[in-house]
Amino acid sequence: MILGMIKVEIPEQLSDALRNVRRVVVLTGAGVSAESNIPTFREAQTGLWEKYDPTELATPQAFNCNPRLVWDWYRWRRELISAAKPNPGHLALVEMEAHIPEFTLVTQNVDGLHRRAGSKNVLELHGNIMLTKCFDCGRGVEIEAGNPGELPRCRDCGGLLRPDVVWFGENLPAAAIEGAMQAARQAEVFFSIGTSALVQPAASLPLYAIQGGATVVEVNPAETPLSAQVQFVLRGPAGEVLPALVKVVWE
Ligand code: APR
Repeated sequence: MILGMIKVEIPEQLSDALRNVRRVVVLTGAGVSAESNIPTFREAQTGLWEKYDPTELATPQAFNCNPRLVWDWYRWRRELISAAKPNPGHLALVEMEAHIPEFTLVTQNVDGLHRRAGSKNVLELHGNIMLTKCFDCGRGVEIEAGNPGELPRCRDCGGLLRPDVVWFGENLPAAAIEGAMQAARQAEVFFSIGTSALVQPAASLPLYAIQGGATVVEVNPAETPLSAQVQFVLRGPAGEVLPALVKVVWE
């Protein structure tokens, strides 16, 4: 089937399995937002952030050492994300959810695009970049009051505010990761979409699904460490593969 730029082949065995399935889990990474013009983590950063490595900015140490630099990076990303729109890959996952009795969407992305697209059962493992909390007392805040040019501070304790996302070395929200692990273990079909499958604990989720006997599908234009362990590899961009899959299976 040629929908966009590429010819997408959907194996009949996979489309048959999806027509009768009850429990599906989808894990997404930055690749599903690439076609919304949000750079993935392991692609070179663009513009003035080209010389920075995200893994050296998204850490409590970096924030302690240079909170203004970290805030400038997140403000740049928030602007990028505010201008972004869900792409056909996000929208195809909304349609898939409507056809599946028990559908769980687990995302490593902090851009909120799955919810903006209309996905309902979403577990955000790494938080949401548009939310803010106090670095010291952890209190979530709606608005970042403060004078322009000054770093925003917590009204309760005076500590510095920070984006409410999970940084390297920090714990994931317990409810999200426990819910994701349980869903992965019980999945009949598990999709790994747009993720390099490198960062734990998310990278273990497809392995739990395999242990639970699930059929695992990878959607990614490139090979990953997971590719050799899955039953189906749909080699292409999510924004083209997912709409083709939904069309073949449910239309
Ligand atoms: N469609 C599908 N996949 C794509 C597309 C696309 N259009 N474009 C790129 N990809 C794939 C790349 O081949 C790569 O495998 O998306 C993946 C992006 O990988 P990463 O940049 O490592 O992003 P991700 O896997 O989400 O990173 C996981 O690491 O940096 C931390 O917390 C951060 O959540 C992030 C986590």
